[in-house]
Amino acid sequence: MPSPGYFITVEGIDGSGKSTQARLLAERLSQEGELVTSVRDPGTTVLGERVRALLLEKSGSPPPDPFAEVALFLAARVQLLREVIDPALAKGALVVCDRYVDSTLVYQGAGRGLDQGGLLELHRLVGASRMPDLTLILDLDVKAARLRSDPALPLDRMEAEPTAYHERVRQGYLALAPRFPERVVVLPADLPPKELAESCWRVTRERLTARRAT
Ligand SMILES: Nc1ncnc2c1ncn2[C@@H]1O[C@H](COP(=O)(O)OP(=O)(O)OP(=O)(O)O)[C@@H](O)[C@H]1O
Ligand SMILES: [Mg+2]
Repeated sequence: MPSPGYFITVEGIDGSGKSTQARLLAERLSQEGELVTSVRDPGTTVLGERVRALLLEKSGSPPPDPFAEVALFLAARVQLLREVIDPALAKGALVVCDRYVDSTLVYQGAGRGLDQGGLLELHRLVGASRMPDLTLILDLDVKAARLRSDPALPLDRMEAEPTAYHERVRQGYLALAPRFPERVVVLPADLPPKELAESCWRVTRERLTARRAT
């Protein structure tokens, strides 16, 4: 039986405005009377938040092997699915998730050169094959995104990757749209937060209405 809930993911390069827009979208959906569950990946669960800290810290020790990195992201994701996302969708909630599978496809796939088909197969093998119903990709120039970060805060391990890496990630995101046209929508993110929130809301309302009409 198809899930009665609706699963929305917000994606984009570091600093593109995902967390801001995920929060504003969840608030708007709640105002409209929807049952909303907000999560972040990696994170939200105790295990996921611990894995997140491990993944983002700059420990000074050698960086994780790309496969070790994938395995950690996947561990956090499976836990998030089983513990929070699946039960929320089963209750009919709208789940708004800050990053999800596409982050792995572009950061470890496009960014680090791992095979994207293999990454999807890995998700299937560990029971994490659930795909989003709608993915909003916030598209922003790498330099513009970097300018948004607070210069007083240290960069995390992913943010500290070279510009060329972040460019591959951006292009990787853009390449997802023709590959998954049924769920992926790219939105120009060089707009003030409220205007971008309006775009996110418009697309979500349209897609959700169409889904409920079927
Ligand atoms: N539309 C916007 N225009 C200008 N600045 C923005 C916009 N959206 C968010 N910001 C600011 O840019 C910074 C990054 O925003 P946010 O944390 O939402 O991005 P993110 O994509 O979640 O970043 P990260 O990948 O680091 O988690 C924050 O300081 C935020 O206040
Ligand atoms: Mg964020």
